[in-house]
Amino acid sequence: MKNYEIIDKLYFEHTASKAELVALINTISDEELEHLRKKAQQTAQKYYSNKVYIRGLIEISSICKNDCYYCGIRRSNTNAVRYRLSEQQILDCCDTGYSLGFRTFVLQGGEDGYFTDDVMCRIVEQIKQKYPDCAVTLSLGERSYESYKRLFSAGADRYLLRHETADRTHYEKLHPSEMSHSNRLDCLYRLKKIGYQTGAGFMVGSPYQTTENLADDLLFIKNLNPQMCGIGPFIPHKDTPFAKFPNGSVWLCLMLISIIRLMLPSVLLPSTTALGTADSNGREKGILHGANVVMPNLSPLEHRKDYSLYDNKICTGDESAQCISCMKRRMKSIGYEVVTDVGNYIEP
Ligand code: 5AD
Ligand code: FES
Repeated sequence: MKNYEIIDKLYFEHTASKAELVALINTISDEELEHLRKKAQQTAQKYYSNKVYIRGLIEISSICKNDCYYCGIRRSNTNAVRYRLSEQQILDCCDTGYSLGFRTFVLQGGEDGYFTDDVMCRIVEQIKQKYPDCAVTLSLGERSYESYKRLFSAGADRYLLRHETADRTHYEKLHPSEMSHSNRLDCLYRLKKIGYQTGAGFMVGSPYQTTENLADDLLFIKNLNPQMCGIGPFIPHKDTPFAKFPNGSVWLCLMLISIIRLMLPSVLLPSTTALGTADSNGREKGILHGANVVMPNLSPLEHRKDYSLYDNKICTGDESAQCISCMKRRMKSIGYEVVTDVGNYIEP
C-alpha cells in the first residue's frame, strides 16, 4: 500500500497492520506527513473543536524506589535533590489551581513509600470534598489491585501510567531486572477494570527503540483502548546511564501524535512538556498534529527544578499563574482556546 492509502485507512478504519505502520513511519515524506497532520487535526476538531483542555500538574514527590535508566529521579542518582510535598502543600496547589481555572488536578510522583493508601486516600478525599466539580488524576506508578481500588473508592477519577514500551525485550533494556514488563501491563489492565479513565504512553526515541517497537506501541494502544495517551520525545538526563544517548526526534513524535489521533479518534492526547522542551514551539505543534490537552505546572516554585526527569525541562522558573497565561497565549496564537472544563473523555 502507498503511504496515502495507509493514512486513509487510518482515517476511515482507525487501524493498520504492523507492516503498514512500519512502512509509513520509515518512508513518510514531508508532504504525506502534512496530509496525515491535517486528517489528525480534523479528527480532533470533530470531537473537541478548537478547545484545549488543561490539567494542573502537581509533582508531589521526587523520591522514587525505582531505578529506570532514563529517568533523572531514579534512586541511584545521588545528585537528585529529593523533596516530598506535605498534604497541606498539595491542597494549597489545588487552591491556587482552582482559582486559575483548573478543573483537573494531576498528582504525579516517583514511587515514594510515604504515600501509602491511607495517606493518598485522605488527600484524594479532601480534594474531592472541597472541589466536587474537579477530576483527580493520579500518576504514582505501579501499585496493587487493592491499592488502585481503594484510591478509586476515595474518589480518584483517572490514572496515568505509561507502559513505556510494549516490547518486553526493549523494556528490559530501559529498566533494571527487578522491574517487570508484565506487571506494568497488568497494572494498566487493573486500572481499566476498576473503572479509571486510564492513560498509557511511551517515549519516542528512547535508547534501543526500533520502528518495529513503535508499531507495537501503537498496536498495543489500539488494543488497550485507553482514554488517554501521553507521548513525548526521550531527552537525556546528565546523571543517568543514558546521558550520552541522543534526543528523540520531535518530527517523529509529531507524526506519532497524528497516528494515535487517527487510531483512537476521541482519545485525550496531551501535547507534553517533553515536546515543549525539545522544541520551543513543540506544544503548539503537538496541538496542530491532533493533541488536545496541555498540562501546565502547578507545583510549588521552590521544588520545580527538582522534579527533573530530563535535562532543561521547561516551566521550572515560572509561577503557576504565569505558566497558565503563557499557555493561553500560546494556544491562542494557533487559533485554539484553553478551556476551564473537567474535560472528560468522549466516547467515539
Ligand atoms: N525523557 C523523556 N521522558 C521521560 N520520562 C522519564 N524520563 C524521561 C526522559 N529522560 C517520562 C516517562 C515517564 C513520564 C513520567 O516521564 O515516560 O512515564
Ligand atoms: Fe509554563 Fe509557558 S507554559 S511557562
